Parts: sequence; structure tokens; C-alpha cells
Amino acid sequence: MAMRNTETRWGWPSKLLHWLTAILILIQIPLGYYAEELKLSPLKLDLFVWHKSIGILILLLAIERLLWRMIGTIPKALDTSVLQRRLAQLAHATLYGLMIALPISGWITTSAANIPTKLFWLIELPAITGPDEALKSMAAEVHEICVTLLIIILVVHIGAALRHHFILRDSILKRMWF
Ligand code: HEM
Ligand code: HEM
Repeated sequence: MAMRNTETRWGWPSKLLHWLTAILILIQIPLGYYAEELKLSPLKLDLFVWHKSIGILILLLAIERLLWRMIGTIPKALDTSVLQRRLAQLAHATLYGLMIALPISGWITTSAANIPTKLFWLIELPAITGPDEALKSMAAEVHEICVTLLIIILVVHIGAALRHHFILRDSILKRMWF
């Protein structure tokens, strides 16, 4: 399997990063909602360790993915309308932005709430701010707004992928697959 992206196809690192991130995010969203609903309990605390650990992993994968994208090329858009291409670009850029903004806002929430966290019970997550009640509420608010935006864009993104595959019958989904 080819490593580099070309103008016509994705190389395996981009594909692997795309699908790994997709799986993690699809676990992360229900996990966040579920953990938040629980009453304070050992299970809740454990689920939040998972939530924070997976979230930081998503952040690292997103950075890795952006760097890999920047040093290489990416496949050209298929022959669709200019509007459709612009919308796809906008959706993809926003998804990258959210994969960074979500973990950072979550991390600020935890730091400002003065909650120490060990990623996967192994590495202590350093605090990026001191304790600050107002900042904590603001960051949690940003986190929640980002989640809502993420869900909306994902519905469109996945819908668009399925439309390309089953209705337009072009190669968009196939070229992201292995
Ligand atoms: C759930 C989290 C997901 C995220 C965060 C995500 C994010 C992204 C991003 C940022 C790109 C643009 C890649 C780039 O230009 O560098 C992309 C491309 C793509 N995604 Fe997703 N995606 C997700 C899930 C899915 C799912 C479930 C599908 C299929 C049903 C899918 C299908 C595709 C396809 C086909 C492309 C390639 C478009 C092209 O070749 O021009 N994605 N995705
Ligand atoms: C892409 C990564 C992430 C996604 C998709 C995500 C998603 C969610 C969701 C759906 C919720 C429940 C709804 C809400 O209150 O916002 C939530 C809550 C929360 N998340 Fe995340 N999260 C991510 C990363 C992180 C990270 C890295 C941290 C911490 C290091 C974190 C900390 C929290 C906290 C503390 C809450 C509870 C907020 C509150 O009390 O209102 N999240 N997250």
C-alpha cells in the first residue's frame, strides 16, 4: 500500500488516521454525555479518565494528521460544483478545528476545576491553567457548543459520503477506504 498521498488517492497513513479518529470520536461523544449524566461515583470518575485520555489521543492524532497533510499533497476534489467543493473544504477545516478546540476546551475545564487526571492511569496530564471557577464554566460552555457543532457537521459529512457512494456512485468513499 502506498504511503504518500497523490492527486488521485490517499496514502495509508492518512486513511489510518482518518478511520482511527472517526472510531474514537464516535465513542467519545456518547461517552461524554453518559459520564456527565452519572451521579458522582467511582464509575463516573473512571469514565472521565477514559474520556480525557481518548480526547487527548484525538488531539495528538489530529495534529499528526495536519502535519502529514501539510508536508504532502492531498487528492484533488472530484468534478463537482464549485459550491459543493467549497462546502466540503469548509466542513473539513471545521472538523480539524473542532478536533483541536474540543480537547483544549476540555483540558482547560479540567485544569480550571483543579482536577488532576492521569491519562490511561499512566501519565499525569499537566494543568494548563490555575484553578478558576469562572474560566471553568466558560470552557465547559465552549466544550458543549463545540460538541453540538461537531455533531451537526458529522451528520452532514457522513451523509455526504454515503450520498457520493450510493447515489452519485463516484469514488470518494472508496478512495478513503483501504
Ligand atoms: C467521526 C469522525 C470523522 C471525522 C472527524 C472526519 C473528518 C474528516 C476530515 C477532516 C476529512 C478531510 C481530510 C483532508 O482533506 O485532509 C475527511 C475526509 C473524508 N471522510 Fe471523514 N471524518 C469522520 C468520519 C467519517 C465517516 C464515518 C465517513 C464515511 C461514512 C467519512 C468519510 C470520509 C471520506 C470519504 C473522506 C474523503 C473525501 C475526499 O477524498 O475528498 N468520514 N474526514
Ligand atoms: C474530540 C474530543 C472530545 C469530544 C468529542 C468530547 C465530547 C464531550 C461530550 C459529548 C461531553 C458531554 C456534553 C458536554 O457537557 O459538553 C463532554 C463533557 C466533558 N468533557 Fe469532553 N470531549 C472531548 C475531549 C475532552 C478532553 C480532552 C477533556 C479533558 C482533558 C474533556 C473533558 C470534559 C469534561 C470535564 C466534561 C464535562 C463538562 C461539564 O462539566 O459540563 N473532554 N465532552
